[in-house]
Amino acid sequence: MKAMAIQEFGGRDKLQLMDLPVPDVGPEEVLVQVKAAGVNPVDWKIREGFLREVLPHEFPIILGWDVAGVIKQVGSEVSQLQNSDEVYSYCRLPVMHYGSYAEYLVLPANIVSKKSESLSFEQAASVPLAALTAYQSLFGAGRLQSGETILIHAAAGGVGGFAVQLAKHHGATVIGTASPRNHDYVRGLGADRVIDYSTKDFRAVIREWYPLGIDLIYDCVGGDVLEHSVPILNSTGRLITIVEPDQAKTMKSQGVNVEFVFVSPNARQLDELTKMADQGKLKTDISGTYPLEDAAQAHEKIESHHVRGKLVLTIET
Ligand SMILES: NC(=O)c1ccc[n+]([C@@H]2O[C@H](COP(=O)([O-])OP(=O)(O)OC[C@H]3O[C@@H](n4cnc5c(N)ncnc54)[C@H](OP(=O)(O)O)[C@@H]3O)[C@@H](O)[C@H]2O)c1
Repeated sequence: MKAMAIQEFGGRDKLQLMDLPVPDVGPEEVLVQVKAAGVNPVDWKIREGFLREVLPHEFPIILGWDVAGVIKQVGSEVSQLQNSDEVYSYCRLPVMHYGSYAEYLVLPANIVSKKSESLSFEQAASVPLAALTAYQSLFGAGRLQSGETILIHAAAGGVGGFAVQLAKHHGATVIGTASPRNHDYVRGLGADRVIDYSTKDFRAVIREWYPLGIDLIYDCVGGDVLEHSVPILNSTGRLITIVEPDQAKTMKSQGVNVEFVFVSPNARQLDELTKMADQGKLKTDISGTYPLEDAAQAHEKIESHHVRGKLVLTIET
């Protein structure tokens, strides 16, 4: 099968189109013919080797943790899925070796969900990782309640865009940060207010709007943005970061109510997101689609830190 993989860590020039064997299907697994693969910032971070100490790996590494496609074979123990089902998945496996930047992918059936009928393969591939991250952050670690106020940093990005929609549907008041070109977009997703982080200090704006502070702050940026969020939490406020595990640990030891979230595959939660998409309550916005062969271009774009919504690779078999 055709696959975009790396044989060693490094820059975009390490991405190579390889011809690799299709893996065997175990009793509890399914073979997915990949139609589209979502592109996420973690893909270039893996490519560079930034996760080499955190997750086991085996070269060649086929990148890609988001997939949408069609089931071509099911293992003998799989009952909930069958051939020809259109499916999608957040497909992070315990060892980084097989990924969705390929014509085929074998996955444990228990991390695969039937695709929303209202989403194309490209749209579906853009959902699982980012939307599950937002879901697990807001409703797991963040314990977001209806009526609370949430500040979402990077509201125009992949994760932030889903977080805005989920928080709004949950009955929260939503404030997002974004550059001016994305303000209408973020309001369109459901944000009540948007802060231009590029010209304003978000701390000053929040102090003016909410002198007692914010209930939940969602950091999808890291660095100073995480640090500067602490003083604008209210007395019971929670801070969630998806970017800075070490910084969160240090801040926690200093008494800050902060948690780092690392998204886990979860088909049940993805099924809930599918229902929301079918009911028109969850939308995905794709700002760039690339053929598999142009994965390096997609990486160049996502490395800019200024993609609106999501990027997707399409795979022709
Ligand atoms: N821990 C986990 O499980 C997990 C899961 C998913 C993602 N992540 C990480 O979380 C981060 C966000 O992921 P993503 O997929 O949402 O990334 P993304 O889609 O690439 O985010 C791009 C967005 O960030 C915005 N942005 C950039 N700098 C900003 C700033 N200083 N303040 C506010 N907005 C800013 C940009 O908006 P403008 O163009 O308007 O500036 C752009 O829309 C990445 O570092 C990713 O690796 C972690």
